[in-house]
Amino acid sequence: MCGISGYIGKKEGLQIVLGNLRKLEYRGYDSAGVAFFNLGANAEIIKTVGKLDNLERALRGKRSLSATAAIGHTRWATHGAPNQVNAHPHSDCRGEIFLVHNGIIENYQDLKSELIGKKHRFRSQTDTEVLTHLVEEYGFEWALKKIVGAYAIALINKKEPQKLYIARLGSPLVVGVGEKEYYIASDPTALAGLVKKVIYLKDGQRGVLSLGGLEIGPARPKIEKLDIDPEQAQKGHFPHFMLKEIFEGPEVLRSALRGRLSADKGTVKLGGLEGVTDKLKNIKKLEILACGTSYYSGLAGELLFEELTNLPTEVMLASEYRYAKHPIKKGTAALLISQSGETADTLAALRKANHQKNLTLGIVNAVGSSIARETVAGVYNHAGPEIGVASTKAFLSQLGVLALMALYLSPKKTAAHREIMRELAILPEKIKMVLAQSGKIKQLAKKYLKYKNFLYLGRGYNYPTALEGALKIKEIAYVHAEGYAGGEMKHGPIALIDRDFPTVALATQNRVYEKMLSNLEEIKARSGPILAIATVGDKKIARLANDVFYVPKTVEVLEPILNIVPLQLFAYHFGTLCGYDVDKPRNLAKSVTVE
Ligand code: F6R
Repeated sequence: MCGISGYIGKKEGLQIVLGNLRKLEYRGYDSAGVAFFNLGANAEIIKTVGKLDNLERALRGKRSLSATAAIGHTRWATHGAPNQVNAHPHSDCRGEIFLVHNGIIENYQDLKSELIGKKHRFRSQTDTEVLTHLVEEYGFEWALKKIVGAYAIALINKKEPQKLYIARLGSPLVVGVGEKEYYIASDPTALAGLVKKVIYLKDGQRGVLSLGGLEIGPARPKIEKLDIDPEQAQKGHFPHFMLKEIFEGPEVLRSALRGRLSADKGTVKLGGLEGVTDKLKNIKKLEILACGTSYYSGLAGELLFEELTNLPTEVMLASEYRYAKHPIKKGTAALLISQSGETADTLAALRKANHQKNLTLGIVNAVGSSIARETVAGVYNHAGPEIGVASTKAFLSQLGVLALMALYLSPKKTAAHREIMRELAILPEKIKMVLAQSGKIKQLAKKYLKYKNFLYLGRGYNYPTALEGALKIKEIAYVHAEGYAGGEMKHGPIALIDRDFPTVALATQNRVYEKMLSNLEEIKARSGPILAIATVGDKKIARLANDVFYVPKTVEVLEPILNIVPLQLFAYHFGTLCGYDVDKPRNLAKSVTVE
């Protein structure tokens, strides 16, 4: 969601802050602003609505004074409309304190009334502005004590231009540690290429950064290596991050398997789970908790765990789990899946599970993120930064890691397990075969562009894929699409089928293939157009479907990894053909850090 950027050091702070806001653009925003000390040593605050280009235009010719702090923010509106007044930074009554904030101040109405009673003058409708007046009234430390909610905060003060105040509770904030300089960002991706060392602030940590060093407490800050290749955060020769990330699929899967899967020996090693091996042997049930795309990979994970390990598994939306009266039996482990590692609902579900003393495990992509840190054990995806707002490569790597985990947890390795391992190892090559047909999928997208509604149908392992395929086209092309289990068609959605309501059918040759064919017969009988995803060599499908996209054969449990790729490409081409900015779909944010 919103992005925070800040700098204190001898370089041109304003330019650094702006440059890093650019790198955070992908998170989604509707207004932006900066506060800095100009060459005349006066504090300036500039805010604009819309894209960063507007802010850059407003800042043309301006420079910041060396050795002073600068902060910036991209805002994704929650409280108050996306206008200039509500954009961050916010300032106090005297225009001395400037502050940017990610998160949510839950008790802001009460605090606002209290502060109005003390003659503070408010300008915006935001919860954030309360913070500036609180700091003005009580000072930084005391202000933090009075607020309830979640925050990542960066603050500069006219009275101390060489200091940058920071604090974190619930919303991520990273400090980049350079030579006599510090950078701050809400996402470490922005710091790639600028520093090699970072501090991921922990909840409750706060402090002040200056040329003389840093003071962070109460817990001692831990300096870690920043392991993000700056190239990964660039589009390269691709027109969009989304396309680049879809094309990274083969490499992403290889990275997830590297050093973990040995298909020849028939073994799987997961270093991140070794510390809890004994506990894992005794778990009686696994509960997978996640949101959005990560939830759909969890649905595929449920099938994998139950098939490969006999471990009863249940998947729940993290947003439901966190408030549910859900009986937790002894011996239950919770598995949290999250690309960003910062999704508010998933984090809340994790905290609930931790509170209930469950063993908590994570499948997380963002290294050092809250979910990665707060789970007892886990496995990183190693997919690299995902910049496109719609999750694509993360889905593939989550499925790869789930397959590894299921294999790792299976007490004995049968011939079927060995076959899955062999197939996993060669799957990157099969993904490449699908990617090579991106042009064909673009033609299909052109043909189906006239439709406004789609049904995505799948059974078994193809059901989560259908849900994820439908989500992709909704997000990217703003087309209404429903993901459905084939067996449910007769229980309702069949009523919608006519010549204007196409079905994208996942009909690969697996144990429910014949059942899918029956579904397609029913759709055809009602003149519904069918675009089928089918297995290479399938002779029957062309008789039923209007169009067929063929994917290579793989073992059924791994089908989602392969079958989602044409659906990701279909959504991508559909969206770009409509002229949409597929990397930043409207109303969406990359990392949903508020409820
Ligand atoms: C869909 C998408 C979202 C995320 C969801 C969870 O393309 O990106 O549905 O999957 O917000 O995010 P993470 O995985 O970061 O917890």
